[in-house]
Amino acid sequence: MAGTVNITHTAGRAMDPPRHIAIIMDGNGRWAQKRGLPRTAGHKAGAETFRRIATYCKNIGVQYLTVYAFSTENWKRSEGEVSAIMGLLKRYLLEAVDTMEKDHIRLHFFGDMTPISPELRALAHETDEISAHLPEGDFQANVCLNYGGRDEILRAVRQFAADCAAGEKQPEDLDDAMFSGYLDSRGIPDPELIIRPSGELRLSNFLLWQCAYSELYFTDVLWPDFDEAELDRAIAAYQGRDRRFGGVKK
Ligand code: FPP
Repeated sequence: MAGTVNITHTAGRAMDPPRHIAIIMDGNGRWAQKRGLPRTAGHKAGAETFRRIATYCKNIGVQYLTVYAFSTENWKRSEGEVSAIMGLLKRYLLEAVDTMEKDHIRLHFFGDMTPISPELRALAHETDEISAHLPEGDFQANVCLNYGGRDEILRAVRQFAADCAAGEKQPEDLDDAMFSGYLDSRGIPDPELIIRPSGELRLSNFLLWQCAYSELYFTDVLWPDFDEAELDRAIAAYQGRDRRFGGVKK
């Protein structure tokens, strides 16, 4: 099926940088509060960190960077904070429309875009079109917007059930690879490394299907302070892990 990825894993110590890194960009609010600034200033600084880390990932040969920008639960925040985050995304997309072709950066969104403003959706559509014209080997940033791992799985299950009802699929044919093809991440390998800054030790509904064999890395550094050296430390920790995928050490 188009868009699926065969789930094959290579056991052993990971020497190369991960092909896919995913990051929960946490700690923006605390970063701002520590400086006596509004929470929105933290998100602004966090958006700068995203630009910097995306560029660095691209330069060191990481192929996919997936970031958690806005969860299905983040609508509980104040209207001012939600619109500030949407404003930062809009600004980033406006910039991306002008620069992604020249910089060879593909952009993709994970999440249910239906409640997102038409303006932002139109921009996302524009960046999708540009991405489609860039070579598949180019670096790709995936931005999770109105994203929740459970919501993604539910949307996939609903679509699979609809395909079965239409006679296009048979329930007994469903396997890992076919199910992956129904997710927002279809066609993209699972992240080898998931990073969460800011000291919280949980996944908060992030990539629940894809994280099955991801190595997890936690640091107390707040996202706006996260830099290239921090990413190097996370990658070095990942490269020191013994990845067995349920097998035994050789
Ligand atoms: C979590 O920190 C961060 C968010 C909910 C928003 C992240 C959004 C951005 C960095 C801006 C837009 C992104 C792009 C890709 C341009 P928090 O607010 O929960 O921090 P706290 O736990 O310290 O309160």
